[in-house]
Amino acid sequence: MSVPPAPLRGPAVPADAAASLPAKASPSWQPPPLSLYIHWPFCVTKCPYCDFNSHVRASVDHAAWRDALLADLAHEAALTAGHRLASIFFGGGTPSLMPPETVAALIDAARTHWPTADDLEITLEANPSSAEAARFAEVAAAGVNRISLGLQALDDAALRLLGRPHDLAQGLAALEAAQQAVPRVSIDLIHSRPGQTVAEWDRELARALSLGTGHLSAYQLTIEPGTRFAALHAKGLLALPPDDEAAALYELTADRCAAAGLSAYEISNHARPGEESRHNLQYWRYGPYAGIGPGAHGRRNRRATQRHRKPEAWLESVRAHGHGIETETPVSLREAAMEALLMGLRLAEGIDPHRFTAATGVPLMRAIDPAARARLAALGLVTAAGPLTATPAGRPLINRLILELAADPDRDPDCNLDSGPAAPMCAAQERTR
Ligand SMILES: C[S@@+](CC[C@H](N)C(=O)[O-])C[C@H]1O[C@@H](n2cnc3c(N)ncnc32)[C@H](O)[C@@H]1O
Ligand code: SF4
Repeated sequence: MSVPPAPLRGPAVPADAAASLPAKASPSWQPPPLSLYIHWPFCVTKCPYCDFNSHVRASVDHAAWRDALLADLAHEAALTAGHRLASIFFGGGTPSLMPPETVAALIDAARTHWPTADDLEITLEANPSSAEAARFAEVAAAGVNRISLGLQALDDAALRLLGRPHDLAQGLAALEAAQQAVPRVSIDLIHSRPGQTVAEWDRELARALSLGTGHLSAYQLTIEPGTRFAALHAKGLLALPPDDEAAALYELTADRCAAAGLSAYEISNHARPGEESRHNLQYWRYGPYAGIGPGAHGRRNRRATQRHRKPEAWLESVRAHGHGIETETPVSLREAAMEALLMGLRLAEGIDPHRFTAATGVPLMRAIDPAARARLAALGLVTAAGPLTATPAGRPLINRLILELAADPDRDPDCNLDSGPAAPMCAAQERTR
């Protein structure tokens, strides 16, 4: 299917930088809550489907990495004083490989730099190896209160096919350890795997939903350029389920999750009420976030930041300049409106006009004119009235559009030589595939 037309070409708003936004000019203006993304770029092995900014290294100088991350953090904090911190997300790579002391040092520093929300959400992405599970209590003691566990499959053959270093027994044990360590645990699963049938996924999903999780991310397997799966796929050695079967798996996921009390609040994310990822909601609602660590993206002070992707280049930049930023550019009103539209349309709650205007400086009516909305509504892709919301039929199209727009023609071919190309997507998109 092709992507929706008119409104996604770019809103009819001036492309000027947003320094003159009326919201900021008002004496009553308060900086919105800020989120913090921290990227840990190392993994034990490189999974054959993965194009995230993840690298395998024989050894890591943990003291140097802790100090560099703290310096990168201090740089962002100096530029975002006045914001209240709403969430921290340790993503990767495999942040469960970070020494718990580094996690603790970063959380402590963040709490020193910013005032924090009473219910500050601190998530750490984890892989289910037993070594990492043994550290869950320590990272919880450091302040982590949510673990996002990459189970990926509940089937040993599927885990082998995905090249995962853990098996089902380790996955279940890690889930139990995570549930004992922190109040909120999310699990990641990948569906539409080669050879997977609807009946098999139904059974696997039922088992996943019986494990007591309040949050489930179910991603459709995508073949990312430069990965081992892409090479196998190109040679005809890896066949994915046809589109109609993948669509059936997607619909089944939403139905089964809803029946279990986890509604699809975003394209691939399901949660019990109140258990939604507040960090990811910040991206999707187009709130500001600082991103530190290799390859991290940020959107703060109406500026887009991108850190050096290659770990060594990032480390060198922090040593030389006190931060790991490779590029920092103003975000025009047009770009802000476009990004906020694409992000917000992923959400079941849709786009709240007031929040949209506050976040972008652009009235929603100018970002998508009523005639364009009516045309999309007639195609069954968005709602005709109320908050602008993609229909269940429209949401996968939005997802595909985001992935296509995120392809980065300028990516550095040397940036991830040990493990295939670097992740082309911004941090927000990385976390929301
Ligand atoms: C940063 S990644 C991985 C986090 C952690 N290192 C792990 O492997 O569990 C976050 C999630 O993206 C999903 N993912 C990564 N590559 C994918 C792909 N090619 N297709 C679908 N989902 C993918 C996986 O479910 C993964 O848990
Ligand atoms: S899927 Fe996770 S563990 Fe595997 S290479 Fe990517 S980031 Fe690392």
